Amino acid sequence: MNEHNELKQLKVIEMDAGNVFSGQTSKRMINGYSAASIYTPKSDPDYIYHDTMREIIVWLMNPSDPLYIFGPTGSGKTSLIKQLASKLNYPVFEVTGHSRVEFADLAGHLSIEKGNMIFQYGPLSLAMKYGGLFLLNELDLLDPATASGLNSILDGSPLCISENGSELIYPHPMFRFAATANTNGGIDESGLYQGTLKQNIAFMDRFWLCEVNYPEPQAEVQLLNKVAPNLPEKLRTGMVDYANEVRKLFMGESANHAELENSIEVTFSTRTLMRWADLTVRFQPLSQQGVQPITYALNRALGFRATRETRAMLHELAQRMFSGSEHGIN
Ligand SMILES: Nc1ncnc2c1ncn2[C@@H]1O[C@H](COP(=O)(O)OP(=O)(O)OP(=O)(O)O)[C@@H](O)[C@H]1O
Ligand SMILES: [Mg+2]
Repeated sequence: MNEHNELKQLKVIEMDAGNVFSGQTSKRMINGYSAASIYTPKSDPDYIYHDTMREIIVWLMNPSDPLYIFGPTGSGKTSLIKQLASKLNYPVFEVTGHSRVEFADLAGHLSIEKGNMIFQYGPLSLAMKYGGLFLLNELDLLDPATASGLNSILDGSPLCISENGSELIYPHPMFRFAATANTNGGIDESGLYQGTLKQNIAFMDRFWLCEVNYPEPQAEVQLLNKVAPNLPEKLRTGMVDYANEVRKLFMGESANHAELENSIEVTFSTRTLMRWADLTVRFQPLSQQGVQPITYALNRALGFRATRETRAMLHELAQRMFSGSEHGIN
């Protein structure tokens, strides 16, 4: 079956939001699709729902303003929206922003097929036409002028495709527009998200804003229980504490380790935390050669990205937090 046929056959159904997302009836209804399509994200059995999920479910419930999700790298913005979409069998059309994205990359373009000129629908057109979720990642990397070209779509207007005989694509009632970014579209306060651009204020004014920070410690511990069940429990908890301490040092907010200089240039994303746990498991055999797997893995997950000075600081912090045998490491 070609992709368009599959999308044409999608059937909207009403579901109980509580049943879908938490397994408990809530009598609050949400629209989804009766079956997944090739565009529906795969469900991740290890996924731990983020506190912000409620806000995004409310957004998904009714056609509303487009959503702009912002927060630090690896905090779970993209995965959260995709995992929620997966529960509803929503088709997701995903694009990652960069400074050279043009409107045609989103709407579509003419191409030649078997000697004929045909119009190839882009991700935005497909989402609008068939009722999908258009997910624009790293929106703040877009050229602000290109981004502002989306203003009328964000207002709910149809998309006019002049190259396809001026076809007008009216937004399907299930069409949703979500963007993710590391900055709030205004300023990069950390100065570390290279390439991000301040967006046009009229463009930003069209969004419902949603902030996603790193998950609560108990959620990250739960995540590590799933990713690295073989590590001692105390060690997994210690790793989450360590990640939070590094985040504080990054933000200049550490009170516990004030003697360590209160500003470092790397931070601990959930993505890095999972990699650290995974590498610690893989490097366990090194302990027989007197190498501490946890610090060895830490360098490979994060430390090597930092300056020598920060790396030394990360090492010192790890020595303090993981010394002794109570963590089940030597
Ligand atoms: N709550 C969670 N449960 C399971 N995995 C998670 C969770 N949060 C983040 N992850 C994992 O961490 C990784 C990073 O998440 P994701 O890509 O969603 O972050 P992001 O905020 O979009 O990052 P970026 O700003 O760099 O695009 C993914 O592999 C994802 O599966
Ligand atoms: Mg992302």
